[in-house]
Amino acid sequence: MADYKNLFDMTGRNALVVGAGSGIGRCSAMCLAQFGAHVVCADVREEAADSVSDEIRAHGESAEAVALDMRDTGQIQQVLDRISPPDALVSTPGVNIRKKLLDYTDEEYDRVVDLNLKGTFRLVRETARSMSENGGGSIIVFSSIRSQVVEPGQGVYAATKSGVVLMIRALAAELADKGVRANAIAPGVVDTPLTAQIKRQPDWYGAYADKTMLRRWAKPEEIAGAVLYLASDASSYTTGSVMFVDGGWTAADGRFDPFA
Ligand SMILES: NC(=O)c1ccc[n+]([C@@H]2O[C@H](COP(=O)([O-])OP(=O)(O)OC[C@H]3O[C@@H](n4cnc5c(N)ncnc54)[C@H](O)[C@@H]3O)[C@@H](O)[C@H]2O)c1
Repeated sequence: MADYKNLFDMTGRNALVVGAGSGIGRCSAMCLAQFGAHVVCADVREEAADSVSDEIRAHGESAEAVALDMRDTGQIQQVLDRISPPDALVSTPGVNIRKKLLDYTDEEYDRVVDLNLKGTFRLVRETARSMSENGGGSIIVFSSIRSQVVEPGQGVYAATKSGVVLMIRALAAELADKGVRANAIAPGVVDTPLTAQIKRQPDWYGAYADKTMLRRWAKPEEIAGAVLYLASDASSYTTGSVMFVDGGWTAADGRFDPFA
């Protein structure tokens, strides 16, 4: 019989979690560490990376912190040179400027694309190169339900979230023979600093809860299971895929129940 009990075991694996200082990245780092990985907590805000790493170590697990701006290829290369080669990469940083397309300036467009699409590209390219040379690994990037469905004010963000999906699918196809798997996670609405603007407006917050089948927002801890699955051997046959963790948001086009 196969050993199913260790499918999710990350003992002896190195995980690089970029965006570990907040929200989904923070929970991903803690979860991977609890399952045995040594986690490099990376964030542009060094003190936030330090604080997550300290919390993990205080819990008896293994972590270190590094400052990293994923818009800077040189910094990414320096970090990869310093740390043990990652077996798993989790890339969470993203920004959303919620504005209608006709109101978007070139500078705002560049800000969103430079982090969400080009930043992800830079980080994934450099890490995938290291994984290819070191026997493989698992790359996990963050898309969104906005890769599929939009509303006014989400155009540029949605384009980046759709773009990262096709990019990692190409990467998955290009590097399968090197043992590198690449997948995306597409959350629905998750209570984190990224969505604080929405939380401050009860109508908006409630409308989003009602778009889900579960009628509520996710806690960031609820995304960690998908990260662990994709990072571990449990997903050894999963590559080029998108996992929706959206409370059912994208599976139905309305909440009307004719039998209610
Ligand atoms: N929160 C949601 O409702 C939601 C929904 C769908 C998709 N997502 C996606 O999930 C991902 C994570 O979202 P979150 O809510 O955890 O975000 P968050 O804002 O809570 O955390 C992002 C982290 O990334 C760091 N960061 C920002 N720029 C960086 C850079 N240049 N280099 C390195 N680190 C940088 C920030 O300091 C922060 O710690 C994002 O890509 C987001 O688009 C989130």
